[in-house]
Amino acid sequence: MSSEKIVLILIFCLSMMSWGHCKDRKHFVLVHGACHGAWSWYKLKPLLESAGHKVTALDLAASGINMRKIDDVDTFAVYNQPLLRLLATTLPNQKVILVGHSLGGLSLAHATDEYPQKVERNVFVSAFLPDTEHRPSYVLEKYGERTPTSAWMDTKFEPSGNKTSMFFGPMFLTNKLYQRSPVQDLELAKSLVRPSSLFLEDLSRQKNFSKEGYGSVPRSYIVCTEDIAIPVDYQQWMIQNAAVNNVLSIKGADHMVMNSKPRQLFDALQNIAN
Ligand SMILES: *[C@@H]1O[C@H](CO)[C@@H](O)[C@H](O)[C@H]1NC(C)=O
Ligand SMILES: *[C@@H]1O[C@H](CO)[C@@H](O)[C@H](O)[C@H]1NC(C)=O
Repeated sequence: MSSEKIVLILIFCLSMMSWGHCKDRKHFVLVHGACHGAWSWYKLKPLLESAGHKVTALDLAASGINMRKIDDVDTFAVYNQPLLRLLATTLPNQKVILVGHSLGGLSLAHATDEYPQKVERNVFVSAFLPDTEHRPSYVLEKYGERTPTSAWMDTKFEPSGNKTSMFFGPMFLTNKLYQRSPVQDLELAKSLVRPSSLFLEDLSRQKNFSKEGYGSVPRSYIVCTEDIAIPVDYQQWMIQNAAVNNVLSIKGADHMVMNSKPRQLFDALQNIAN
């Protein structure tokens, strides 16, 4: 065989390999929960990247290293601006998989309502999962009704502009969120959490998430069986309420599944992406 032929065959093989690789390559956008930031995904991001995916972990307003202060974030829309900006600049042929943790579930719904054509799938990880029949605040209100004030332990709620700010205390982090996570992750969280808000007042005034927007994009839910903050029965209730049928479960995971069961969370996302 001539050397030109060998080179051509080599180029052909390499392009087939990269095509196969590209086909399964997804863009995951990881959206943190209240008081947390992009930092909360530090174990999951390299796992997804090593499998060939593109991963964006972002800080919402007044979270992580975002420069805003929560007192200056008046609405849920302003809080979500970094996510909306990202979707605005994504090309339509490069859809993303949004992964939302905890309060991040509501950010997913809000962003997907604005840019449904940019989102391939919404994945809720022990997250608040809204529907399209009720007000956006519905799942937070139902949660509030069933959660005694004492369950918040040392979490601080304070007036902040025209909303209420929320700041998880070390006891709440230890006992309700990180109880099955490595102690180093708990320690990291104690030094990195910032005051945030559930934006209840604002969400109760917004129009319902729409069937044509948020409702038109496929959804998956990842249940965390040992979550104390959003207990399994409430996760299941939201899954029924919003009629999600792609449901996976991670045994032994506390609320911070990205710390307590990162490998299992990675496997679940791989499973969903394929
Ligand atoms: C929006 O939510 C409200 C309050 O839960 C409900 O009464 C109303 O029917 C919903 N509207 C639509 C268009 O679904
Ligand atoms: C809070 O204030 C902002 C800015 O003035 C306003 O846009 C928003 O609608 C207000 N929200 C509520 C719930 O009053």
